[in-house]
Amino acid sequence: MDFNATLRNIFVEENDIPQEFSLPGLIHQREYLSNGAMKTWDGPVHEVYSPICIKTENGLERKLIGSYPVCTAAEADESLDAAVAAYNNGRGEWPTMGVAERIHCVEQFTGRMIEQKDIIVKLIMWEIGKSFADSVKEFDRTVEYIYATIDSLKNLDRDSSGFDIVDGIAAQVRRSPLGVVLCMGPFNYPLNETFTTLIPALIMGNTILFKPPKFGTLLHYPLQEAFRDCFPKGVVNIIYGRGNTIVPGLMQSGKINVLTLIGSSKVANELKKQHPKVNRLRAVLGLDAKNAAIVTSNADIELAVKEIILGSLSFNGQRCTALKIVWVHRSIADEFLKKFSAAVAQLRFGMPWEKGVSLTPLPETNKIEYLDSCIADAVAHGASVVNENGGGSEGSFFYPAVVYPVNSKMKLYHEEQFGPIVPVVPFDDLEETIEFLIESTHGQQVSIFSNDADEVASLIDPLVNQVSRVNINTQCQRGPDVFPFTGRKDSAEGTLSVADAIRAFSIRSLVAFKMNETNKQLINEIVHEDTSNFLSTKFIF
Ligand code: G3H
Repeated sequence: MDFNATLRNIFVEENDIPQEFSLPGLIHQREYLSNGAMKTWDGPVHEVYSPICIKTENGLERKLIGSYPVCTAAEADESLDAAVAAYNNGRGEWPTMGVAERIHCVEQFTGRMIEQKDIIVKLIMWEIGKSFADSVKEFDRTVEYIYATIDSLKNLDRDSSGFDIVDGIAAQVRRSPLGVVLCMGPFNYPLNETFTTLIPALIMGNTILFKPPKFGTLLHYPLQEAFRDCFPKGVVNIIYGRGNTIVPGLMQSGKINVLTLIGSSKVANELKKQHPKVNRLRAVLGLDAKNAAIVTSNADIELAVKEIILGSLSFNGQRCTALKIVWVHRSIADEFLKKFSAAVAQLRFGMPWEKGVSLTPLPETNKIEYLDSCIADAVAHGASVVNENGGGSEGSFFYPAVVYPVNSKMKLYHEEQFGPIVPVVPFDDLEETIEFLIESTHGQQVSIFSNDADEVASLIDPLVNQVSRVNINTQCQRGPDVFPFTGRKDSAEGTLSVADAIRAFSIRSLVAFKMNETNKQLINEIVHEDTSNFLSTKFIF
């Protein structure tokens, strides 16, 4: 069988979709949450086609799984007004609520979210083509992240429940919310990465406008009623519509206090510029990256291959942290490429529900043309695909291509391919790799593969000032989620992690007073009578 026939055969006919992984039916969403109510939409809708194609008599066709509202700027503005009213200049029920009560609301929401696990996991798989096993992991990791955020906030609150006394002035320092947060997540981790900003923003007392990603939209539908029931009216609003139609107006209103986006630096740049009061806007951003692996002549090649396979091809290379370019010392390049290509050939490809599958169909409709164009450009500049069947495609599936030797004339050297192509660049002098990172517009992470301590040390010091995480003999990754996740240059703004995120979405405020008898009595009265949620010595256990 030729390889294209093999690729076509990974897809199945409608009747051969295993029952336990099927959706309960078409999901035609016609309601959206705004100002504490589910509003009915009878305007235009977007039809959702899965990256999973079905074999039909007309060939492979993406399967229709449902549709969702394409609202206009008018509906987005109504939701903005609702979020502004719920915040009420910091005087709303939610921003003034005690921390323990806010935590209770988030716990209730998480319980309701867990009840929806089955449908959400299936929708992750059907909407973005992530393997079922990884879709389950994404869900579980998100729930763990929420519980870790709650614990972290409890610790922060305990640490803030006393008074500091310096130079005769006493103060209680706590963190307060910032206002209305516009939250947008990416398609590759549509639940997890969205919630790693949305939940910390919410729990700190902000009000939310949440725009689900372009792919991975329907999976948020089962959570709307939980948001409605667990939080006061207008605290969480979910907006639907074309980003370029509804988001610019929200920014131009000047009523957004925080923009949080996991996505492209180009979009972030454009949106920030729309805000009339740039100094009032805080941005918490996770953006593009072109993380490099550097495999030196002293590397353990087997280990490097194993880690770089994971780093470059997990979820088909569609991770912001993916290794997107591999520098290999020329003296070991042939051996590396041989072993790497053999390891690619071992990867199981197929439908996302198959056990052990690691390569699956791609959600973006024009992606395969783009990946083909990257390969054509590399070939035109002297490289070739070195692994068997590399770059083959059928329907929405693209088989990984290892491209060598890549140089600075090629798109693959500069662009974030965000897909299953592994560009490999030979080098003679480690200085070439440092120069690449200096000149790169990105600065998220790097992976160094070497067993020579002096060599590793000589790379660590220059590279920690180019990127935000240097991994030694280990692939690039975001986790563990308690570690700081950030980047330099066009890769990020602000730092996310369980503990950092609750700080990113809040500001320190303090109540201070001179320690005279009148003030001491006054403050004691407030604390004893429990008349302020902020000025309080209550301790959350
Ligand atoms: O897409 C970017 C994600 O933050 C990557 O997370 O490294 O855990 O896959 P991960």
